[in-house]
Order: sequence, then structure tokens, then C-alpha cells
Amino acid sequence: MISQDLRTEHFRQSMRRVASTVCVISCRHDGCRYGITVTSVTPLSFAPISILACVNRNSSISVPLKEEGRYCINVLRASQADISHSFSGGRPAERRFDIGEWSEKDGIPYLQSAQANLFCQMDQVVSYATHDIIIGQVAAVAFAPDVDPLIYQNGAYALTSPMALKKAC
Ligand SMILES: Cc1cc2nc3c(=O)[nH]c(=O)nc-3n(C[C@H](O)[C@H](O)[C@H](O)COP(=O)(O)O)c2cc1C
Repeated sequence: MISQDLRTEHFRQSMRRVASTVCVISCRHDGCRYGITVTSVTPLSFAPISILACVNRNSSISVPLKEEGRYCINVLRASQADISHSFSGGRPAERRFDIGEWSEKDGIPYLQSAQANLFCQMDQVVSYATHDIIIGQVAAVAFAPDVDPLIYQNGAYALTSPMALKKAC
């Protein structure tokens, strides 16, 4: 029987092998902007158009996000590792919006230069252990013409490159 610590470490090592696109969740509440870096974003359904993200209840955005209910999921591009770093603790919460081209739509802060912006209305919150699974309906989107995501894998940032597929005969 392996110890809980070892099981946790094995889980961590397994998850290092999962590549995920880096996003920043942002919202405004009581006149202040909040944002954190997340990779836990998953499209959920087309009817209604919905998306989920898992947010640690200890994070600075947790309470304002749930109280406000309106937020943006900003899908970062490959050149935005500095923004990811800033929103994952590299800068204090009140200075995170100092880098990047942040704008506002209907009171929701969003990163203009992101690959995509998904403006969401929170629909359900499912609490599990340390995290909330935030389910949102997508009210509006904006996206850039290019596809150039910032990837996080093996504890580091990475880039994608298309595979040259062999043509079937
Ligand atoms: C690449 C990356 C992905 C992350 N994904 C998540 C996530 O999905 N959910 C989450 O709650 N925290 C995630 N984090 C951690 C938060 O970004 C980090 O704890 C942040 O500092 C929390 O904000 P706070 O310091 O304002 O509380 C991630 C961090 C990194 C670097």
C-alpha cells in the first residue's frame, strides 16, 4: 500500500503530462478588478452554450466572482506568458492589470489582445473539496483570426505546432 503523499506525487506527475491552454478569468466587483490564471477551462455544451472552470476557494477572485456572477474567460496567446505569470501570483492582485491591454465590456474587464474572450453569466457552482466548479453560460464572444495558444505542460509554458499528417491513399 503506497502512502497518501506518494499517491499525491504520482497524481501530480501524471498531470504534468497533460497539456492545457492557459486562460485568465477576470471580473469586476464593487469597483475592483480581479483575475487569476487558470487551465481548468472546459467547454461544456452547445445548448446552452456553456463552459466550466475550476477555481480554488482560497483565491482572491473566488468570492467576488460568485457575488458578481459575470466574468470573462480570456484565452491567452503564446506571447502572453508574462500575463499568465502575473495572474498566478507573480504580481499582487491589485497590480495584475498593469500589464496587457485591458478594456471593459458591460463592466467586465477583458484582455483585448487575447486569442479569445468568452463573456459568461454564472449559472451553477458545484463545490468539491478545495475548489468550486464554476459553470457559466456564454453570453458573447470575441476571437482573433489566428490560433496561437499558450500551453502549460510539465510545469512550464510551451507552444503548439501543427502535425504534418500523412495523406490517406
Ligand atoms: C498555468 C497555471 C494554471 C493554473 N490553473 C488554475 C486553475 O485552474 N484554478 C485555480 O484555482 N488556480 C489555478 N492556478 C493557480 C492560480 O493562478 C494562483 O494560485 C493565483 O495566484 C491565485 O490568485 P490569488 O493569488 O490572487 O489568490 C494556475 C496557475 C498556473 C501557473
